[in-house]
Amino acid sequence: MMKEPVRVAVTGPAGNIGYAILFRIASGAMFGPDQPVHLSLLERPNPRSSAALKGVMMELADCAFPLLKSMRAEQDPREAFRDADYALLIGARPRGPGMERADLLEANAAIFREQGRALNETASRNVKVIVVGNPCNTNAWIAMKNAPDLAPECFSAMLRLDQNRAMAMLAEKTRTDVTDIRHMAVWGNHSPSMAPDIWNATVKGEPADNFVTDQWIREEFIPTVGKRGSAIIAARGASSAASAASAAVDHMHDWALGADDWVTMGVPSDGSYGVPEGMIFGFPCIAKGDGTYEIVKGLTLNEEQQARIAKNIADLEEEMAAVKAFVPD
Ligand code: NAD
Ligand code: LMR
Repeated sequence: MMKEPVRVAVTGPAGNIGYAILFRIASGAMFGPDQPVHLSLLERPNPRSSAALKGVMMELADCAFPLLKSMRAEQDPREAFRDADYALLIGARPRGPGMERADLLEANAAIFREQGRALNETASRNVKVIVVGNPCNTNAWIAMKNAPDLAPECFSAMLRLDQNRAMAMLAEKTRTDVTDIRHMAVWGNHSPSMAPDIWNATVKGEPADNFVTDQWIREEFIPTVGKRGSAIIAARGASSAASAASAAVDHMHDWALGADDWVTMGVPSDGSYGVPEGMIFGFPCIAKGDGTYEIVKGLTLNEEQQARIAKNIADLEEEMAAVKAFVPD
């Protein structure tokens, strides 16, 4: 039995992540094999982007996906987000070699203010928004603050790629399978200072830190996961695209349909673990299967992890202060 179609809006569909994600949404990987979709695709109104998007849409049509009920190209965010059940905010200016995320704060703040306002006006009142475009925590915060008629819980930022990277690295180190690893979380900001948490993770049901040395955790695991995005940019000359798209598929799939393990999501803090209320912060979450999630409570955090979390809070406070002109008082 097929479900009623859902409306999915995607920004930046002519970009690298766009090209890797649209075919997976339309094939059913994101919302399941019984979930038809209408796609609404928001690109910048310049001839190159419009032409590239036209080509992507031709390819989508050529796949003859049974679940793809319609698609349309839009240039106005209000039209793109009209009645959207899901919104994937991917379009942004990507970081190139040698650039820091902070350089991009202001340019992207204007985009996410406009898109937050548009979501507020026209999206479904239950819309689920994932912000992928960097700096994704702060961009998600700007969009959320500019959408006062939507619940803050409608907004999230993508840290799932960081969780996936951490799981893959730990599986390789312990010569196990990623499916042997559970409860892997990455706390904080999607930036090199993020706090991957091996101390609450397990490998084959045993505490993960029993399998590796403290030196490996501090000198290899945490910095490598944190700097993986930059390492990919250095190697590819462009930021991660297929793995980022895959993580966004995981994030939205689990948010919509549930998961049997913790999922890391950047979500508005409810004050847990001393993270200021409303800050978009990576937390381990339980995706309940009915479209809602809750932050995992009561975890023990050692002193060094508490210090990393405090550093992420300070960094995000700084980013939020830098873009405060873009959010209403
Ligand atoms: P890209 O440059 O290939 O594509 C971006 C697309 O967005 C382009 O087609 C561009 O025209 C479009 N765009 C720009 N501004 C837009 C706007 N206001 N409205 C609609 N479309 C707009 O970039 P990409 O490789 O697809 O990466 C996209 C973003 O994702 C970047 O900010 C990148 O840093 C970020 N990213 C985040 C993660 C994460 O884990 N959170 C991982 C990888 C990449
Ligand atoms: C990543 O983690 O791969 C990206 O966020 C890197 C970037 O800055 O685009």
